[in-house]
Order: sequence, then C-alpha cells, then structure tokens
Amino acid sequence: MPDYISAKEAADKWNISQRRVSVLCRENRVDGAMFIGKMWVIPNTAQKPIDKRAIRYEKERPITLKPFVKWAGGKGQLIDELEKMLPTNGSKVLTKYCEPMVGGGALLFDILSKYEFEEVYIGDINPELINAYQIIKNNVEELINKLKELQTSFLPMGENDRKAFYYSIRDKFNSTVLNESTKVDKAAYFIFLNKTCFNGLYRVNRKGQFNVPMGAYKNPTICDEENLSNIHKALKNVTIVCGDYSLSKSFIDNNTFVYLDPPYRPLSETSAFTSYNMGTFDDKEQIRLAKFIDQINCTGAKIILSNSDPKNVNPNDSFFDDLYKEYKIKRVSAKRMINSKAENRGEISELLICN
Ligand SMILES: C[S@@+](CC[C@H](N)C(=O)[O-])C[C@H]1O[C@@H](n2cnc3c(N)ncnc32)[C@H](O)[C@@H]1O
Repeated sequence: MPDYISAKEAADKWNISQRRVSVLCRENRVDGAMFIGKMWVIPNTAQKPIDKRAIRYEKERPITLKPFVKWAGGKGQLIDELEKMLPTNGSKVLTKYCEPMVGGGALLFDILSKYEFEEVYIGDINPELINAYQIIKNNVEELINKLKELQTSFLPMGENDRKAFYYSIRDKFNSTVLNESTKVDKAAYFIFLNKTCFNGLYRVNRKGQFNVPMGAYKNPTICDEENLSNIHKALKNVTIVCGDYSLSKSFIDNNTFVYLDPPYRPLSETSAFTSYNMGTFDDKEQIRLAKFIDQINCTGAKIILSNSDPKNVNPNDSFFDDLYKEYKIKRVSAKRMINSKAENRGEISELLICN
C-alpha cells in the first residue's frame, strides 16, 4: 500500500497549481489517484503526467465571447496568428493572463472563451472603456435594460430622428461626469455610441469630448444580451484596472502570459490614429513601453507585443527591429487602412514580437 499525499503536496512537488492537479486527477491522468471526502489523494509514487498545454487549462465547455465594442486596432484578424504563438510547450504552467492595453479585447475574449487562467488582469487608460468593462462585470442587468431601451427607441426611427437621437445621446455622454451615480448610464451611452457611430470609432477632441459623427448602419445590434451576459460571467474573477500599462507590473511574474497591444506607430501622417484618449502615443512612448517590456521580461513572464511595421512604407525604417533586437520578431499580414482614403485599405505586414 503506497503512502498518499494531498493535491496541495502533489502541486508543490510537481511545481504546478493545486487546481491543475485536481484537473489531471479528474481526467484520470494520475495513476492511483482517489477522490476521498471532497479531496484528491495521490500515491506518493505517482509520476507527474506529461502536460503539453503549458500555458493554460482548456475549458471543458468552451463558450463564445465576442468583443462588446468595435475598437480601432482591434486584433480580430490576428487571432489565428496570435494563437499560434501562445506558449503551449513548456515545462511550467502559466496560470495568469495579463492584457494591460486591452481595448476591445479581441484576444482577451478568445482566451476567456477557450481557456481557464487562475488570475486575469486587464487594463486600459481609457476611463469610459474601463467603466464599461466594470459595469458588465458588476451591473450587467441594469446595463442590458438601459441598452434595450435605447435600442427600442432608436431602431424604428427614420434617418432624421435617428440623427437627433444620436446627437442627443452624444451630448449627454459628453456632459455627464463619470461617477458612482452616472456610471451605468455612461456605460450604456458608450456602447450605444460605439454601435451607431461612424465605423465604431472612439475618438476624442482636445477637451476629451467624444466627437465621432453618426454612422450609417441600417440595423445595428445595440444590445447583444447573450454576449453581455456571457462576458459578465467570464469577468467574474478578472481584475479590471483603469490607468497606465505600467500599473500591471506588480501582477506580472514568471507564471504570467502578457499580451501588449499599444496604439500603432502611424505608418503615414494621415493614418495617425492615436486618439483613443487625450494623450498621444509617440515614439517616446514606444520607447518607454520597450523599457517596461525589458523589465517584465526579467520576471520570466511570457510576453507578446503587436505593432505596425514601419517597413510597409519605408523599408529602411528599422525602429522596432532596433528597439526589440533582443526579441523574436515575426511579420504577419493584416488588412488595414493605410491612410484616410477607403481605397487605401490593403494587406500590410504587422509585427508580433515575443520573448
Ligand atoms: C490598439 S488598441 C488595443 C486593441 C485591442 N487589442 C483590441 O483587440 O481591441 C490600444 C489600446 O491601448 C490603450 N492605451 C493607450 N495608451 C495607454 C497606456 N499608457 N496605458 C494603458 N493603455 C493605453 C488605448 O486606450 C487603446 O485601447
């Protein structure tokens, strides 16, 4: 009769989490493991199962989560490429996910749909966007009711009435200060404007006021109740932070997978879209970010960063090749607006940089 150890002791011995041990036992992958009195006991002699899924635990029942807003620079198109780069073959389990410039969260929602992490951190410097994430996490029913009201009012209207309605909501959004008593209304206005404005852009003027005109969607889904409810459940244990990406430093350690998707370095004067908020993300900011990446690289975290490829317009511009010369740089293609003219939407190369 072998000696038995607890799941916690096996976790310490195999250098994986206790939760992972339970999953492996449940999957019958630990010889002789038994479930006794609400806990797993494991023969002291049992070997650690070979585990190729190094970064995450695949969900037994995946769900489909989609970004709840359209976001400039959204990474929907690059998901397949990003997935190929996810660290899946390692000796260590990455149990934490961190996306400190989350925007619309294309990769976040793909990851939350399919994988389980023990801890997840998301952040962004845009307070209205982060408020929307927080309201979906904490007040989703109220939000859904408000969005349904907006949808029921807006959709049956003719063009002129829609315009008047859109601009009245835009005025309310701009004149309402975000605080405890306005936060649900503001999240509803934010999502309404995103679904009905031109191209789903979020752009503010120097005074921080949202200034995008109305779009021309015939029948926009303003309230996607099912998706919002699913996101609400998925955000249950997610830490949501408003502020600079550097605030995530204390979360990041050698068990963390970090994805950073900063505002693109503009490829041309006219393609500069960096007004997600009032600040700009110029080359100095790109360099500050590279320094931050060097710091978190020292923790042993697994990091992926995406950006535009300046070589699309100037083959001699090696800004990122120089900045990230210690890292692996992969060039992948994506369809993007190269400048403000619609016909200039073409296949261009983008950078995926990792350690
Ligand atoms: C390219 S977008 C991210 C898009 C996102 N990956 C998606 O799929 O929608 C860049 C994001 O970085 C945010 N941002 C800009 N400067 C920041 C900073 N200093 N700290 C944190 N977030 C920042 C912007 O508000 C914007 O949402």
